[in-house]
Amino acid sequence: MVQVAVWEENFSYELAQRAPAFVLQILGEGQQDLAHRFGSVSGRTVDKLVGLETFTGVTGFPILRDCLAYLECDVVFRWKAGDHLILVGRVIHSEVRRPGRPLIYDHADYDAPTKEGTVGKA
Ligand SMILES: Cc1cc2nc3c(=O)[nH]c(=O)nc-3n(C[C@H](O)[C@H](O)[C@H](O)COP(=O)(O)O)c2cc1C
Repeated sequence: MVQVAVWEENFSYELAQRAPAFVLQILGEGQQDLAHRFGSVSGRTVDKLVGLETFTGVTGFPILRDCLAYLECDVVFRWKAGDHLILVGRVIHSEVRRPGRPLIYDHADYDAPTKEGTVGKA
């Protein structure tokens, strides 16, 4: 089971209220630009997938060919918590697509975990 929380001002919030499923896509070390693209502009004004190679998962949603790994989830629980909507998903399909370290957002910057699994910054 996994959980995401979506801020009510985001376009994703509108979709999260009715979507039967969602896909968590894990980016790898060096994919900061891609993370910035998805995390800085809104789907209200831009199609963030334009120009990127995708394939269709079992949920029917597009998945980035170049992601490190992904988790496809059926929504089993929705809860409005303050200004966020919390979605709990049951993972119905997942894949690690290539070797590598996951990209992590930590202290307002990107990093990747060390071999020991901790994030490298002090
Ligand atoms: C690393 C990173 C993590 C983020 N995590 C979340 C999150 O958990 N929930 C959320 O609502 N927004 C999160 N955001 C912000 C949204 O991705 C951002 O506001 C985005 O433009 C919303 O797009 P949308 O309007 O298409 O939903 C995150 C941004 C970054 C860069």
